[in-house]
Amino acid sequence: MTQPLTIALSKGRILDDTLPLLAEAGIHPAEDLKKSRKLIFDTNHEHIKLVVIRATDVPTYVEYGAADLGVAGKDVLMEYNSTNLCEPLDLNIATCRLMTAALKDAELPAGRLKVATKFVNVAKRYFAEQGRQVDIIKLYGGMELAPIMGLADLIVDIVDTGNTLKANGLEPCELIAPISSRLVASRASMKVKYNQIQPIIDQMAAAVERQR
Ligand code: ADP
Ligand code: PRP
Ligand code: MG
Repeated sequence: MTQPLTIALSKGRILDDTLPLLAEAGIHPAEDLKKSRKLIFDTNHEHIKLVVIRATDVPTYVEYGAADLGVAGKDVLMEYNSTNLCEPLDLNIATCRLMTAALKDAELPAGRLKVATKFVNVAKRYFAEQGRQVDIIKLYGGMELAPIMGLADLIVDIVDTGNTLKANGLEPCELIAPISSRLVASRASMKVKYNQIQPIIDQMAAAVERQR
């Protein structure tokens, strides 16, 4: 029996790169996702639906089984950090780096460091592993501003071209992790809907290989 299947897509910069990979797996939205205010979409397959949500909400929908598969950045998955999720495929899109950064040529204080980031869990783990004492300050965007304003000594953020750091007088310091977007599934969905999910993964994997 064909069961209903829902795929959660991150809106924003990942969406454009995700759709061609889905198309290679034979999944086409019934309407233009970017022109609509809808959040849930039919596809050319009666049993497959797409939802388009904030990148940071994708792991939540997948973990609780509201979506069977999702597409999210490794940064988002590292921050969410659930053992109930698995990453069956690296999509090799939206590649960037998760890094620490500071004001150019800044001398960091010897004692506790103030670290501004939206990746609170990642930052806590990273500095704890290194035995460095930090105070983490949660921000929701524009982290590059924090050192300029004296709010923090360091930031933890995504770096791609480095232009945003440079434009704000910052420089990259340490690499925390190389980042790309991943296909994510719950361990439960992978078991229960294996026969439907695995062919989608295989077709997307072939498309990723062709794009390399
Ligand atoms: P958000 O609004 O949550 O920041 P984005 O659409 O900007 O979402 O980013 C989605 C994902 O794309 C991130 O989780 C990250 O994996 C990746 N990403 C973010 N910024 C960049 C960038 N400048 N270049 C390449 N990939 C990026
Ligand atoms: C992301 C990230 C950096 C910037 C890095 O921001 O948070 O600020 O891109 O890219 P670069 O190294 O090529 O300059 P985004 O544009 O997604 O803004 P956001 O704060 O809304 O996430
Ligand atoms: Mg962003």
